[in-house]
Amino acid sequence: MQSIFRPDLFTGKVAFVTGGGGGINRGIVEALAAHGCTTVISSRSQERLDAAAAEIEAAHGQRCLPVAADVRDVDAVNAAVAQTMETFGRIDILVNGAAGNFLCPAANLSSNAFRTVIEIDTIGTFNATKACFDAYLKDHGGHVLNVSATLHYVGTPFQGHAMAAKAACDALVKNWAVEWGPLGIRVNAIAPGGVEGTEGMTRLMPPDMREKVLAQIPLGRFAEIEEIGNAAVYLCSPAAACITGAILVVDGGHWLTGMGF
Ligand code: HXC
Repeated sequence: MQSIFRPDLFTGKVAFVTGGGGGINRGIVEALAAHGCTTVISSRSQERLDAAAAEIEAAHGQRCLPVAADVRDVDAVNAAVAQTMETFGRIDILVNGAAGNFLCPAANLSSNAFRTVIEIDTIGTFNATKACFDAYLKDHGGHVLNVSATLHYVGTPFQGHAMAAKAACDALVKNWAVEWGPLGIRVNAIAPGGVEGTEGMTRLMPPDMREKVLAQIPLGRFAEIEEIGNAAVYLCSPAAACITGAILVVDGGHWLTGMGF
């Protein structure tokens, strides 16, 4: 599909994307690269990142640097950000996409399972944001974009761990927006609902639920990965220059109907 945005929107800019090797985050990387952005993708598997980066460079003709780091490991995140600065000298956009999740009733959730999701989603978001803030953003301004969720808007069963993690990240969006606005840093989030063709959909949406869930969505369909990319391009672009502390829901209106719970 032809983009409605200018193809050189992010020429000269660099985006660091955690979890950028696959799914929604890969879609955001593709969308930024398609509009001239240099990208850095970071997640646990160097092999997966190398393959994704080669495909992204071939598709969009923009540099994509694959740097392995587990967002839970603050030293590894700092090293990945340092490598980005050595290579490109700037980080204009940080996308906090790395997340871990599974379906589990609270009654069966171990302390370590709860901690693992909080560590990846919440502490990982803090680690990457602090690293980019210290290395570049605090002196130059830029944009932090979190990939959130709508699970915590209601009492989604079997998702207490992810709800707690994403609610904390949403709180940080507001806090950082207020503290860092004067430094020229905008901080926003996208909250996707179900997105076609993603690992989250395969893992979290049992096939027998699909038709029932679709019937609850006002627009009658799930989002496409490309539509999450479009939302990211908008929020990172000068068209959103006065928007900070916002959480943009991209779910066809699903959360407004209570999501069936
Ligand atoms: C209950 C589980 C579990 C499950 C893991 N745990 N899976 N408990 N049900 N299905 C528990 C383990 O038993 C262990 O606790 C603790 O969590 C840590 O698990 P490990 O496998 O040792 O940790 P790790 O290898 O770090 O992997 C954790 C993970 C994993 C990231 C959460 O599920 C994973 O690797 N998933 C694939 C990647 C992923 O989730 N991607 C995102 C999917 S989509 P004990 O007590 O036994 O030690 C997505 C969409 C988000 O996230 C949507 C909105 C939030």
